[in-house]
Amino acid sequence: MGKKKKSSFSGSIGFVLSAAGSAVGVGNIWRFPYLAAKDGGGLFLIIYLVLVVTFGFTLLTTDVAIGRRTKENAMRAFGVINEKWKFLGYVTFLVPALIMTYYSVIGGWVTRYMVAYMTAGGSEAAKDGFFTSFITSNVSPIVFMLLFLAVTSFIVYRGVEKGIEQFSRVIMPGLILLIMAIAVFSLTLTCTDASGATRTGMQGLMVYLKPSFEGVTAERFLEILLDAMSQLFFSLSVSMGIMITYGSYVKDEVNLSRSLSQIEMFDTGVAFLAGMMIIPAVFVFSGVEGMASGPSLMFVSLPKVFEAMGGVGTIVGLIFFIMVAFAALTSCISILETLVANCMELFHQSRQKMCLIISVISAAAAAVICMGYNVFYFEMKLPNGATAQLLDLMDYVSNSFLMPFISFLTCIFVGWVVKPKWIIEEMESSGHPFGRKKLYAFMIRYVTPVMMAVLFLQSAGIWNVVAK
Ligand code: PFF
Repeated sequence: MGKKKKSSFSGSIGFVLSAAGSAVGVGNIWRFPYLAAKDGGGLFLIIYLVLVVTFGFTLLTTDVAIGRRTKENAMRAFGVINEKWKFLGYVTFLVPALIMTYYSVIGGWVTRYMVAYMTAGGSEAAKDGFFTSFITSNVSPIVFMLLFLAVTSFIVYRGVEKGIEQFSRVIMPGLILLIMAIAVFSLTLTCTDASGATRTGMQGLMVYLKPSFEGVTAERFLEILLDAMSQLFFSLSVSMGIMITYGSYVKDEVNLSRSLSQIEMFDTGVAFLAGMMIIPAVFVFSGVEGMASGPSLMFVSLPKVFEAMGGVGTIVGLIFFIMVAFAALTSCISILETLVANCMELFHQSRQKMCLIISVISAAAAAVICMGYNVFYFEMKLPNGATAQLLDLMDYVSNSFLMPFISFLTCIFVGWVVKPKWIIEEMESSGHPFGRKKLYAFMIRYVTPVMMAVLFLQSAGIWNVVAK
């Protein structure tokens, strides 16, 4: 296959940190801890870890190897390998296009909180009703979304090596240090409530780490498994063309197998540390009940926890939201980059021009999503039983519906049409060994497609494996 010269990462570290930048986002910092608290603490952790080294590894390897071997974006890569499978590239493109519409909205929310801690010390953010009144207001969410999108767009405009890589090289190591510092701080907390009961950070850590089998039936176990699986997809940014695009920027001499292990470890490590930082803190100040607040954990419960910490809470809150904003930024960059890179090839336009056009379209779409909490407000029941507004609907269609569908087709394509050997050859092409190749071949042919089909049927509401 002819390989052409195009944008690239300077080397392995640049690739690993940029891909980790895409993987580490609000999913790790907010969604993972919330799921762990809801799904049996250590039990969820064990299941998630097993899934990372089996399913996560398989899907990530597939995406990156397809990208590097074809040196194409998702939209063209499948067609280049096999003309009949061209459609899969187009379906794949839909996912980042959909995610882009709401990820920048969430980025805007995080930016708003960061500003609240910078200007008013976070006291307004801790007030009852702050979050709801902010997201339902007409102008403010749109302004913050535009701000967040403008920064994202600027970095993508600068290109791969000067923009994305340079930014990720600075931000990602800093992120790890901050998250570790807050996690250690969380463990040192103690609080005595009105009833005289004292709770400590270490007890909170046990809530997080100890596997809880309370009320775990076969159905509940499957539900936890499905929660962990969809979290894994979203977190690793697989099956949405992003890792194909980043893979296409990786130089041929890079040891892919080692880089992929590092990305898996980075992503899972940050998610684990985020749990260590959030769960003990929420436990100390609000007990186990505080964690039941689900999605509002980050925007409603945590500001209250920071407030309860007293003066130091303002600083911790500020650092926390700065960190989340950067994590969201590197993820949003990867989504915009994928859209821009695909469209550059499709329309034969320059990066700068495509970046501007797509940013404007994304801003318009994201403004509509912001209005999903006022002008276009509706409530809808999803097949998984949850009640959704416009933003949740986009999230559901892209993550729960399209992602397993694309993963299933990709597994069939790679496992049975092109055959695993094609991927394994690419993994070994730099002369480095691909240690888990037997596991890979088995997973991509047999286990992953079955699991993806189950996940898809469940999400589409076609077959209720887990009765709700
Ligand atoms: N992986 C990111 C997170 O965990 O927040 C989210 C994400 C990034 C999703 C990029 C999709 C994507 F294309």
